Amino acid sequence: MVQAMAGVKLLVLLLVAVFLGHFTAVSAICAAGDRDALLQFKSELADPYGVLSDWDTNPDCCTWLQTRQYRMTTCNSAGRVTSLTMGTGLEYKPGPVYYKVSGGVYGVSLSKLTYLQKLDLRTIYSGDALISTTWAALTQLSNLTLDVKVAGPLPPQVVKAWPLKYLVLTNNDLNGTLPVELCKSSLKTLGVSGNNFSGKIPSCLSRFPASSFNDSSTGPSGNQGLCGAPLQPCP
Ligand SMILES: *[C@@H]1O[C@H](CO)[C@@H](O)[C@H](O)[C@H]1NC(C)=O
Ligand SMILES: *[C@@H]1O[C@H](CO)[C@@H](O)[C@H](O)[C@H]1NC(C)=O
Ligand SMILES: *[C@@H]1O[C@H](CO)[C@@H](O)[C@H](O)[C@H]1NC(C)=O
Ligand SMILES: *[C@@H]1O[C@H](CO)[C@@H](O)[C@H](O)[C@H]1NC(C)=O
Repeated sequence: MVQAMAGVKLLVLLLVAVFLGHFTAVSAICAAGDRDALLQFKSELADPYGVLSDWDTNPDCCTWLQTRQYRMTTCNSAGRVTSLTMGTGLEYKPGPVYYKVSGGVYGVSLSKLTYLQKLDLRTIYSGDALISTTWAALTQLSNLTLDVKVAGPLPPQVVKAWPLKYLVLTNNDLNGTLPVELCKSSLKTLGVSGNNFSGKIPSCLSRFPASSFNDSSTGPSGNQGLCGAPLQPCP
């Protein structure tokens, strides 16, 4: 009898443990450091139409702005942010979100989201700010879409740190040469048209179609000073 009671107690304990484990995995609330980093990013943005208003009212950054087709953020089971998508999917919202200041450096605070695997920022216009070299801390970033009018070079040390599979940087104001650090066998999709890149395309990138560098269907093709395969040979 005593033994049977102990057995039942053990079973109940086991069930509670399983239930709690399941519960925490499902409802992992956003890690405080990641939330602070995102709120810092928001403080650098002008949001005249309140597109990001639930960032202030919902403490769980893992569930900010979700619709049936769209998730702004996703998190891992520890509540660390693994993806951030802003711009695309917000088309139904009344107006855009802007970076408050022109020039300077873009998105320094996002470098604290060190578990980011995917970052997709569009229409968060930067006004010609530079890509932050602190983004080298994003050592899990494999999928990056940036269409925010960042300017200046694509910093080689940052590109080197990213385990890139998918990189779309169309329609920014980036210039200088395409860094050889883009030479990664994991890179499957590349789009850099509509920028102001110049010089010779690293030969490892000749496997991509010309439209990766010079696609006039997505806006001005730009990159007038770019040469070498798959574009025309350099002079
Ligand atoms: C990367 O993100 C883009 C845009 O959000 C998506 O279309 C694409 O399928 C993703 N690619 C990979 C390899 O995850
Ligand atoms: C590259 O862009 C930066 C930032 O807009 C600008 O200051 C610089 O003059 C440009 N460099 C070239 C060679 O056009
Ligand atoms: C590239 O830069 C040149 C000179 O710096 C400028 O005249 C031109 O408009 C730029 N092109 C694009 C597509 O940004
Ligand atoms: C890009 O494509 C356009 C139209 O296809 C062409 O006129 C232009 O010379 C090309 N530019 C480069 C740098 O290849």
